Amino acid sequence: MTVVDFAKKKRGGIPISMVTSYDSWSAALVAQSQVDCILVGDSIGMTLYGYTDTVPVTIETMAAHVAAARRGAPEAFIVGDMPFLAHRMGLERTMENVARLMRAGANAVKMEGAAGNTDLIRHIVESGVPVMGHLGLTPQSVHAFGGFRVQGKSQNAQKRLLEDVRMLEDSGCFSLVLEAVPAAIAAQASESVSIPIIGIGAGTGTDGQVLVLQDLLGLNTDFKPKFVRRFLDGASLVVGALNDYHREITAGTFPDETERYE
Ligand code: KIV
Repeated sequence: MTVVDFAKKKRGGIPISMVTSYDSWSAALVAQSQVDCILVGDSIGMTLYGYTDTVPVTIETMAAHVAAARRGAPEAFIVGDMPFLAHRMGLERTMENVARLMRAGANAVKMEGAAGNTDLIRHIVESGVPVMGHLGLTPQSVHAFGGFRVQGKSQNAQKRLLEDVRMLEDSGCFSLVLEAVPAAIAAQASESVSIPIIGIGAGTGTDGQVLVLQDLLGLNTDFKPKFVRRFLDGASLVVGALNDYHREITAGTFPDETERYE
C-alpha cells in the first residue's frame, strides 16, 4: 500500500481497511492479514495507557510506538498520529515533530482539525510528507466539545464539515479520517472529494473504515460504542487461556516432560 494505492482504491470504489496497532507484535499480526494499513493512533493513550482521553499523549510516546510498529511490520503502510498540540506550536516545532514520526518509520502523519492547519499541511505535503486529515469527532478537542459527542448534527455544523473536508483536500491531504458523524453527511463528504475518506462511526458511505485493534478483537470490555463491531471475543479467549495456564500449573501438568531441558 502506498499513497498512490489510496487514490486508486478511491477511483476504483474499493473500500480501504485500516486498523490501529501500537507495538511490534500486533503490527506483525496485522501485516500477516489483508488489512490495508496501520494507524499508530494517539488512542494509545486510552487503549494502552489507561487515560480517559488522548490529551496526555506526547510526541515521544508516539515516536516510540511508531518505531515499534515499524519493527514488527517492515513493509506495512504506517500512519503516525500527531498527538495533542504537536502541530500547533509553530512551524519549526511542528516540522520537528513530523520528522520524529517519519524518522521513527511512519509513511505518513495524521493530524486532527482543519481550521488553522491548512497552510501547515500544505508546507508538510510540499516537504514530501503525506498527510492524513481527521475531522468530525477529533478526540484531542474533547474538552472543547464537552465530551465525546457525535459531530455534524446541525445544518451549520454539516456545512462547516463539508467545507473543512474540501479545505483539507485542497491543502494536499491524501486521505482523511471522519469520526462519529451522521452516516448521511459522511457519505456526502466522501462523494464531494476525490481523496478517500476513512470512517469510524460514520456509516457505510465512506471510502473505508478504521477501528482500534483492541476494540475489534473484543479485548476492550469496558468500551462498546455503537459503531464498534467485535470480530472476536478476545477478552474471554485470553482470560480462558490464562485460567488454563493457572490450572495446569496448580495441577502440576505444566510444564510436562517435552517442555523442559534435560
Ligand atoms: O487515534 C486513533 O486511533 C484514531 C482512530 C480511532 C481514527 O484517531
